[in-house]
Amino acid sequence: IAHGKPERPAPWWAVQRDRLLEMAAAGTPRYVYDLDTVRARARALAATSAVDRCYYAIKANPHPAILQALATEGFGLECVSLGELERVFDAVPDLPASRVLFTPSFAPRREYEAAFDLGATVTIDNIEALQRWPGVFRGRTAWLRLDLGHGEGHHEKVRTGGVAAKFGLPVARFDAFLQAARAVDLRITGLHAHLGSGIDDPTHWRGVYAELAGLADAVGTVETIDIGGGLPVPYTPDAQDFDLALWRDGLAGIKAAYPRFGLVIEPGRYLVAEAGVLLVSVTQVVEKDGIRRVGADAGMNALLRPAMYEAYHGIHNLTRLEDADIAAFDVVGPVCETGDVLGRDRLLPIATTEGDVLLVADAGAYGMAMANTYNLRALPAQDVLA
Ligand code: LLP
Repeated sequence: IAHGKPERPAPWWAVQRDRLLEMAAAGTPRYVYDLDTVRARARALAATSAVDRCYYAIKANPHPAILQALATEGFGLECVSLGELERVFDAVPDLPASRVLFTPSFAPRREYEAAFDLGATVTIDNIEALQRWPGVFRGRTAWLRLDLGHGEGHHEKVRTGGVAAKFGLPVARFDAFLQAARAVDLRITGLHAHLGSGIDDPTHWRGVYAELAGLADAVGTVETIDIGGGLPVPYTPDAQDFDLALWRDGLAGIKAAYPRFGLVIEPGRYLVAEAGVLLVSVTQVVEKDGIRRVGADAGMNALLRPAMYEAYHGIHNLTRLEDADIAAFDVVGPVCETGDVLGRDRLLPIATTEGDVLLVADAGAYGMAMANTYNLRALPAQDVLA
């Protein structure tokens, strides 16, 4: 009797196993990205007429080939720093500035100036910046990021609403903000909220749209409502796929109720997480106090998510994919921190040994982007399957 949930089709990396092993032979740690997967996710999101523009949050993965692929799909690009703005115009020189959004947090004054000069759409999220730098904002057009008072997402560290979060103007200060904006002749044409990352509830975004649309009338000049990113991907074997149809229907319904506004989303993870894998090589296999550990040549330095959020990523021995004789191992990196664990209690071939290639799945979002050189370990290499 079959039980459990229907099996997912083989992931792209299982189909590409031989090429991945060849790439790993050129050196690990190494990220590999599959652009077909990026394009497939982009088309799935764009297939709803309720959404007027998708901006890809490039912080998830700013690899130039990914930016080019998404720009070709008609996406805009969302940046949070001058470095990201420069990356965008380097990677996609002919991208119209109207497709670039700048949504920083506590950025220095010169980054706002540079973003305005480049012609990007700038989002502001406090009154103090207007008061301190009136010259930067005078006579401009911008969007306002609001804190709707509640955060969502897969871990407390990625919830970006509510008192504990540094982002957004509290709704209680909305009128004061509008007064400060009028004082510098700043026109607010968009309202924005992004309440967190990895949000499972497909009805979340329609709720955000409704809240923002309810506030928009008080401004009078709002044309666009940006409901943020945060769409999840199924990292664990028993996670449900995100119900895109429900998400889409919710947006279509709420858009019909407030049709005056352009609807904007800014997903990152959804587009790239499943398109990327991290390849590492086994260094040592050690048993200590009854725990078997497989050591890899990169850990939290290459992929910080497990250490930082206890995030789950599937781990497979690519060298011995068909090996049925398995046991539970902790998979650890080489960094001098007890938290340097890529995965606990993972079923891997008993024969796993030095030189085997391990594949860490769903690492395309916030993987390389958050990699670091702690312990003076080199950053991972990157390859793209076009
Ligand atoms: N828009 C804004 C304003 C954001 O701050 C973010 C992500 C996004 C869009 C895209 O969110 P996404 O669709 O990727 O969930 N390092 C964490 C995630 C941090 C997200 C930061 N902001 C992780 O690895 O889970």
